[in-house]
Amino acid sequence: MTNKVVIGAQWGDEGKAKITDILANRADFIIRYQGGCNAGHTVVADDVTYKFHLVPSGILYKNKFCLIGTGTVIHPESFKAEIDELKQQGVDLTGLKISSLASVTMPYHIEADGYNEEHAGKGKIGTTKKGIGPTYTDKAARIGLKIQDLYDEETLSEKLDVILPLKNKILSKVYGLDEYSKDCIIDLCKKYAEIFKPYVCFDLQKFLYEHKNDNILFEGAQGVMLDIDWGTYPFVTSSNPIGGGAAVGSGYGPKMIDDVIGVAKAYVTRVGEGPFVTELNDETGKHIRDVGHEFGVTTGRPRRCGWFDAVTMRYAVQAGGITQVALTKLDVFDTFKEIKICTAYKNIRTGEITKYYPTDVYTHKYFEPIYETYPGWCSDISKVREYDKLPKNAKKYISRLEEILEVPISIVSVGPDREQTIWRK
Ligand code: GDP
Ligand code: IMO
Ligand code: MG
Repeated sequence: MTNKVVIGAQWGDEGKAKITDILANRADFIIRYQGGCNAGHTVVADDVTYKFHLVPSGILYKNKFCLIGTGTVIHPESFKAEIDELKQQGVDLTGLKISSLASVTMPYHIEADGYNEEHAGKGKIGTTKKGIGPTYTDKAARIGLKIQDLYDEETLSEKLDVILPLKNKILSKVYGLDEYSKDCIIDLCKKYAEIFKPYVCFDLQKFLYEHKNDNILFEGAQGVMLDIDWGTYPFVTSSNPIGGGAAVGSGYGPKMIDDVIGVAKAYVTRVGEGPFVTELNDETGKHIRDVGHEFGVTTGRPRRCGWFDAVTMRYAVQAGGITQVALTKLDVFDTFKEIKICTAYKNIRTGEITKYYPTDVYTHKYFEPIYETYPGWCSDISKVREYDKLPKNAKKYISRLEEILEVPISIVSVGPDREQTIWRK
């Protein structure tokens, strides 16, 4: 038995869902351990495209349990929309469970996210406006609601007596928005309780105990560079997408983790604000976006694109605890004559060259990328299924990345479909 964690090794959208989906085939139990419906995960199986936000992508296989874990934040209406769409596509949700300790995103969290984004001026993060930051803020401030609270009238009433006066003061006095009456929130909570009811795991400890010997796959969202502690703070999300986050958000300890698979695109993308040293604001960047269809699943926003940044990725390997890499979207370079890897940063103020990631992101504007250039392969690799059959130049690119990152690239993805995957021995 090897329990694996799948994490994003860049700024999200690396193709985690595709990798989770193919690894889920070999797992018994899949746990999504952090984030909320800010995530947009795409799986293509048998020419059908499935879009996930909170439901683990392992749900596409029958007879497996899929838990939306304690470290997640759940917006009830978005969750309902997601499961309704999956049901319409014929997906069997029998194995879906929700931790009774997961946090609930309330309407005032979404209002706060929108307000903060609109009034932050230069401090704008470019969030997904799904209320993620405010929900985690309330959790940390110990004024959040847990799924289990929705089913206990007395606790809910007591909690709302503390939460609502605080929330209403902020909503009306700071944001200039309408206040919520307690009756209105209680009615909403009744509605939410109905939405979650078929899935809530009230006997959480028993459930986790009974499944501790399963082959477990921990599914992360976002990516190391969006981690609240290790990412490009403050231009990050509000949870811990790093491998260690799996131990925090799932209910199982770090000793349960055997492998951390860091998913990375053959280039880099980012949505929202924040530094991005290898960003290409030119025709090449536009070309990567067009060929790679780099537009957000959750918000539809065009993704910023750039060459592979091995400086941040080496950092992500370390902070994320990555033991193996799944390299995705290599096929996007099929028509490129040249491909670049950023192997170091040059500080334009001091002339100093470093291969170590500068953790003060406010200095990133003073760094320029130093590239190694590799010839492209100028052929279609989307039908290749064996590593040895990849063109020589594609293998050279992969080998060089492995050498720099100091971890094996064990999976190479050459298209969105499940089948378009190369497993390395
Ligand atoms: P996630 O959030 O990390 O799960 O990634 P997203 O689903 O947001 O974005 C990845 C996109 O790339 C999706 O549209 C996938 O279907 C697609 N994709 C995944 N792997 C590959 C690949 O190897 N090649 C190509 N061309 N597309 C891929
Ligand atoms: P998946 O799981 C890419 C980004 C947002 C913004 C920042 C904070 O599909 O990889 P938030 O709404 O979380 O407060 O936004 O994080 N972001 C993502 N970018 N993929 C994601 O998820 C993301 N989830 C959040 O664009 O910059
Ligand atoms: Mg995504």
